[in-house]
Amino acid sequence: MSILTIKNLSAGYSETYIVSNIDMVVHENEIVTIAGTNGAGKSTVLKAVMGLLPRVEGSAVFLGTELLRQPTEDRIRSGITYVPQVANVFGSMTVYENLQLTGEICGRPQGVREMFELFPVLAERRGTYAESLSGGERQQLAFARALLPRPKLILLDEPSAALSPALTGQVFEEVKRLKTMGVAVLMVEQRARQALAFSDRGYILDAGKIVLSGTGADLLGNEEMAELYLGRHPQPQTADA
Ligand SMILES: Nc1ncnc2c1ncn2[C@@H]1O[C@H](COP(=O)(O)OP(=O)(O)OP(=O)(O)O)[C@@H](O)[C@H]1O
Ligand SMILES: [Mg+2]
Repeated sequence: MSILTIKNLSAGYSETYIVSNIDMVVHENEIVTIAGTNGAGKSTVLKAVMGLLPRVEGSAVFLGTELLRQPTEDRIRSGITYVPQVANVFGSMTVYENLQLTGEICGRPQGVREMFELFPVLAERRGTYAESLSGGERQQLAFARALLPRPKLILLDEPSAALSPALTGQVFEEVKRLKTMGVAVLMVEQRARQALAFSDRGYILDAGKIVLSGTGADLLGNEEMAELYLGRHPQPQTADA
């Protein structure tokens, strides 16, 4: 069953549209990855779904309700949360304060304890200022803030950005864990080959339009498009591979 259906979405920051005529679907409990070159409009699609852009047309229906004319708070209340590409935690607040504030805003103060159970590292670091966390820890805090309101869909904008390959692996494990918790994920990723390998489906954006969509395996198997849009193969090809 689809939980988010985007139809004919066009969006931008001023008169001109940055993305246009986007059709996208996220089914219940799916991981869906949006890939594409820098500036293609990937973050813009997520911002449009969250209600953070001045210019949006088309439709985005979430669990039967049209989102595009709702304020952002109502979208969050209806079950969508968002982890932005940058500035996804309050750096000058401690881990505990970050979660406590999020719990207060969404009316779930008990969520703080739940998140400490889900992310033991955060419980250990509860008194640490978010700006002093390692990149991987900070991403866990950002995920915890997004999970606290008990969403049905989380939008993640480049969760692996600025992380080492080892930490990227850890963050991707966290993304898979969201799925096991029954949360659907719509994720933008620059490390697209790695992300598509565990995604149910994906979309490739170029210059504000969808140029290809399919299962993760389909997209990875399309050598010509993969070469163009998904970057070079991470492992060198060997004759007996
Ligand atoms: N705040 C903004 N104000 C005006 N224009 C913007 C703004 N943010 C982005 N844009 C424009 O929208 C285009 C698409 O930006 P977007 O951030 O959606 O790309 P992206 O695919 O997420 O790229 P990246 O991979 O670099 O994060 C940019 O090239 C830029 O011209
Ligand atoms: Mg972006």
